[in-house]
Amino acid sequence: MVVAKKIVLLGTGGTIAGTSSVAGANTGYTAGQIGVDQLIAAIPQLKDVGAGELVAEQIAQIDSKDMTHSIWLRLARRCAQYMADPDVRGIVITHGTDTLEETAWFLQQVLHPAKPIVLCSAMRPATALAPDGPQNLLDSVIVAHEPTASGVLCVAAGEIHGAREVSKVHPLRLHAFSSGEVGPMGWVEDGRVRWARDRVPLAPVDTTGALARTLPESDEWPEVEIVVSHAGAGGAVVRALVAQGVDGIVVAATGNASVHDALGEALDEAVKADVVVRIASRCPLGRPLPAADARWPDAGGLNPMKARVSLLLDLIDGDRQEQVED
Ligand code: SIN
Repeated sequence: MVVAKKIVLLGTGGTIAGTSSVAGANTGYTAGQIGVDQLIAAIPQLKDVGAGELVAEQIAQIDSKDMTHSIWLRLARRCAQYMADPDVRGIVITHGTDTLEETAWFLQQVLHPAKPIVLCSAMRPATALAPDGPQNLLDSVIVAHEPTASGVLCVAAGEIHGAREVSKVHPLRLHAFSSGEVGPMGWVEDGRVRWARDRVPLAPVDTTGALARTLPESDEWPEVEIVVSHAGAGGAVVRALVAQGVDGIVVAATGNASVHDALGEALDEAVKADVVVRIASRCPLGRPLPAADARWPDAGGLNPMKARVSLLLDLIDGDRQEQVED
């Protein structure tokens, strides 16, 4: 059997591709300035990993706080095409850290990839005195080559995280990502992958990217917003969203998925107006155990940002079912 060796690098911008006019600065830079080709050229060690071809393509060049649905769609479609190529072993996507967890969950949900798709980032710009991007990129390519790797992963600061659990937990530290209570899936140590016990990636699911190929154009995607339940919360934001035709609302709820009474009243009105409501917890750790008679369905332990991605995809799927039935 011929073993696939090609690795595809897709660039989307982020701090890993960021530059600063102040020599050596770690903050105050502009994200998304250097092309993925240049990032590769700066790491000669990449050619020694897996002895395979590296193919690079620039998908976007943004600060990931500005991530859009149309870039997500482009990314998902390109990943689906590359994954279907038998010569491709894995994909590495350079991405900003700020919304990386949302892109990870989106790609996991629409691709369920059998091959590894590794999201690679950095906390310091390429022009920093000691940038973290080159090591993260080298480690990401190593993970993409790893025969036991599959699914959407995030590799940073020597750790491998899974798409479901990973979230950014620190605005500055190099160890900016955490998988909370479950911990990382594994580590990259001096060029070798070590999986955490019991956390080896799930069995491969899909090599075709079937769902990604059938997603509608992004301007047809439903509108899903996140609102926060907090001390002093009211219903004005929800009522305004309903008035402008929102399709879904995710609530970043307090504690064990509880919602301020004043906000809850507006959510009940929203449901009557056919808006789909889902509840996620603001707590960064654990998973809520909502009451059996909870007024709104919970998001299955996803954080509010990932719950929004899942609701968005469920609504797209619902629209598709309706079209089939019509
Ligand atoms: C971004 O998310 O694009 C900027 C911040 C970062 O990559 O750390």
